[in-house]
Amino acid sequence: MKIKELLISQIKKKGKINVCQFMEICQFSDYGYYIKNEPIGKKNDFITAPEVSQMFGEILGGFLINYWDQKIKKEFNLIELGPGTGALISDILRTANINRNFLNAINIILIEKNKSLIKKQKNILSNFNFDQVNWIQEFNIKKNNRPSIIYSNEFFDCFPIRQFFKKNKWYEKFINYNEIEDIFSFISEEVKSKKILKDLEKFNNVEVAEISESRKKYFELVCKYLKENKGIFVTIDYGYNDPLKNLSLQTIHNHNKTHLFENLGNQDITAYVNFNDFLDIANQHNLKIDLFCNQNDFLIDCGLKERKEKLQKDKNEKTMKKIELEYERLTNSSQMGEIFKVLVISCL
Ligand SMILES: C[S@@+](CC[C@H](N)C(=O)[O-])C[C@H]1O[C@@H](n2cnc3c(N)ncnc32)[C@H](O)[C@@H]1O
Repeated sequence: MKIKELLISQIKKKGKINVCQFMEICQFSDYGYYIKNEPIGKKNDFITAPEVSQMFGEILGGFLINYWDQKIKKEFNLIELGPGTGALISDILRTANINRNFLNAINIILIEKNKSLIKKQKNILSNFNFDQVNWIQEFNIKKNNRPSIIYSNEFFDCFPIRQFFKKNKWYEKFINYNEIEDIFSFISEEVKSKKILKDLEKFNNVEVAEISESRKKYFELVCKYLKENKGIFVTIDYGYNDPLKNLSLQTIHNHNKTHLFENLGNQDITAYVNFNDFLDIANQHNLKIDLFCNQNDFLIDCGLKERKEKLQKDKNEKTMKKIELEYERLTNSSQMGEIFKVLVISCL
């Protein structure tokens, strides 16, 4: 069943669906955006940091290699959640050429649901000499007695969220469908569930809240794995730690902002990640919070400026300017520098 029919049949069955159910169908059902489309790239819908510049993967790679050298120094799993086109892992592995011991100790595991992106990842990884790379769809990694270096970029913002707003009382946003006019529309309903009202208490000082149970569950799965098997987890995403003042869900098609009800199954739907949830979960599992900061601080502290200057050296004016613009895009507070957060947790 195509996305629109699927949405309509679910709404008919349930009377209405919430934003989370709407997103789940648009993104992850059989014809969903993240299952069948190729979202990333200049010709597609959006660009991510590794696609902006090789410097992003080089800096993250340097950070991970340094961590391995200081704390692991033996066989390990390198696990990426949602590798997209494979640009990030490719830049990390290229950077690792400076440390053959790191490369020789790697067991690569990529977690990806999108078949055409897996093809791209296979293609880019064929440039490196690895006997085996494992692709899996879910975070269900078999025990293998190795510590892990796990990382993700723009992975958790894809997870479906429920949206709430407060007007004296808390309400949840739902979607219904008018068959005569053939239109979807928002409706709201007062929240009565005691459990949800309890969860919403921490948002009482603001007017809105977005909650993603599946995102929290996934993050918790990674935390449990880290606790049992040791290692480090670096997650980078659009996000916040002070409660949101406005609902953050956004839809992007062909690099333009759109409406949730447009391009059904053919546009990116994301929402900012609540890093407070992640910090709470990591603490509940007694993991060490090594770092939590914005992308600008992380990249600059790890040597992005020096890397940029090295790449610019002896280049013509046009190339120097291009590198400068990429640097700005990654670090400027009005671009990716501030809204993207970096969380590093570990257990050794
Ligand atoms: C926004 S893209 C980011 C890609 C890449 N990390 C980058 O920075 O360019 C999200 C990636 O995660 C994958 N993905 C999203 N949700 C997923 C899930 N629940 N399980 C596995 N892969 C998922 C998508 O197919 C895609 O490869």
